[in-house]
Amino acid sequence: MRIEVKGKNLKLNFKKTTILLPLPCPELLEISKEELNHRCNLRENLFPTISMAEQILDQCLVDVEYLNLGTYRLPKMIIDYKSYLVAAEVLEDSIAVRKYNESRLIDSQIIITIRHEVHMLLAYILSTLGVGHTKSNPLVGAIITYEDHIASWGAHLNYGSLHGEAMAIKNCDHKLGHLLKSSKLYVTLEPCCHQGKQPPCSKLIIEKKLTSVIISLIDPNKKVAGKGMRLLKEAKIQVTDNVLGSLGKDVNRIFLHNHEKNRSFIAMKYAMTLDGRIATDSGHSKWISGDLALRHTHRLRNLYSHILIGAGTASMDNPKLNCRLESGLSPVPIICSGSLNLSEELYLIRNSKVSHTHIATVAPEYLPRSMKAPHEKKILNLRANGCTMILCKPSKHSDKFIPSLADLLYKLSISDYPPTSILVEGGSHIHGMLVCEGLADYCHIHIGSKLVSGLTAKLPVSGPPILDMGTALTLSSMTSRTMETDIIVEGHIG
Ligand SMILES: NC(=O)c1ccc[n+]([C@@H]2O[C@H](COP(=O)([O-])OP(=O)(O)OC[C@H]3O[C@@H](n4cnc5c(N)ncnc54)[C@H](OP(=O)(O)O)[C@@H]3O)[C@@H](O)[C@H]2O)c1
Repeated sequence: MRIEVKGKNLKLNFKKTTILLPLPCPELLEISKEELNHRCNLRENLFPTISMAEQILDQCLVDVEYLNLGTYRLPKMIIDYKSYLVAAEVLEDSIAVRKYNESRLIDSQIIITIRHEVHMLLAYILSTLGVGHTKSNPLVGAIITYEDHIASWGAHLNYGSLHGEAMAIKNCDHKLGHLLKSSKLYVTLEPCCHQGKQPPCSKLIIEKKLTSVIISLIDPNKKVAGKGMRLLKEAKIQVTDNVLGSLGKDVNRIFLHNHEKNRSFIAMKYAMTLDGRIATDSGHSKWISGDLALRHTHRLRNLYSHILIGAGTASMDNPKLNCRLESGLSPVPIICSGSLNLSEELYLIRNSKVSHTHIATVAPEYLPRSMKAPHEKKILNLRANGCTMILCKPSKHSDKFIPSLADLLYKLSISDYPPTSILVEGGSHIHGMLVCEGLADYCHIHIGSKLVSGLTAKLPVSGPPILDMGTALTLSSMTSRTMETDIIVEGHIG
């Protein structure tokens, strides 16, 4: 399913039909139509559960019926329930579906629950338009329905800008304010109840007297955590929660992790061959992946705030590590090097003022006397080249003087621009050390359709070995998808 901006509408192209959602006015949208179109590309295929949900909608959405309200036409999705029921079994939140299967009856209550799911799917699809641009804020999408027709939509598109539900309400108020009191709001995250960069959304919902609010996930932020929902209930608004929560756990995995674990979300990303190698015997690795998987990598770089590599990868590949898609934001690059034997000709060092390159190394005070002075000189040279140096404690897991990744994370967390998320793009040893220090939270594995053989060709993860299969790391919530010539495997570690 592709989304694009067409004239004054956001156009959602499904297999059997299209939905046209009028764009909010420019003051509400806050970004240009061109930028919104780029966002449609940046979100594509990025979240496995959303891609799966889009396929479900593709199978069951057969038509769109419009309600005429003077000059406004409100679209209603017409679903083929039988194919929806079959497809929805893939999703966790299909209690209503199971109930239906048991009873073989469609009563009105079950249909309403199913409609909740379909509207929430749409809100989730819209939430992904903010990808990469909301910094420490979550991705949030919202739609307002009037008699099951879509009256307006909203999404949190930029850090500090309007929240998804506020955009949807203001958008509806602007054109069809009289409908609000008889409308339902579907929102992917619990509305906030505190003043931040934006006023509290629950207050706005109460003021506008919406009849009911359907929420997917409770906001884990301590300032909200159920309080937003309680305020709505106290104002006699009907509230339903936990609709398609499994999608929220995927789409907002970085935001949820930041609040629940109180630290950055760290993901390993590598492309490997069919025989499990990330480079050939000579160290050559361009390219294992096909075009679509390479584009997926750039979308990942837009999603993550920081990107980390080892000195081996920096020297062998001389990468740029930026996002080369229109309107994509590039993550802050960090190179980890104990020896600092890095050529000044490397792209990330030569262009450090533009790329804001950080280099992590061991602080000289931890080195033996003989190594101290030359190390200090290298640090001064790299600083003179414009690199930001992060001086860490040495790793306890190596007899070489390499920086401890745990200490690096701590130093980053107290820096001016603490990471919400770090994409670790190899190589083999840095991944090994990440696993050894128990710091990897997630995995993006791209399996290309190539085979290279060889005895010394690099493995994706070379750290201290785990000797017992019983203690091997496992992926949970694992998904796998085919992208043209590649297979993408993703999941949480542990
Ligand atoms: N296919 C893919 O997705 C992919 C991705 C990335 C890389 N690669 C390939 O992988 C190869 C490079 O892998 P590699 O294992 O040789 O190098 P690497 O993991 O990129 O870098 C290892 C080096 O980083 C430095 N380092 C600093 N702190 C460290 C720490 N805490 N843990 C581990 N290393 C630390 C050390 O160098 P010093 O102390 O000497 O400075 C170490 O030798 C290249 O051939 C590259 O093309 C493939």
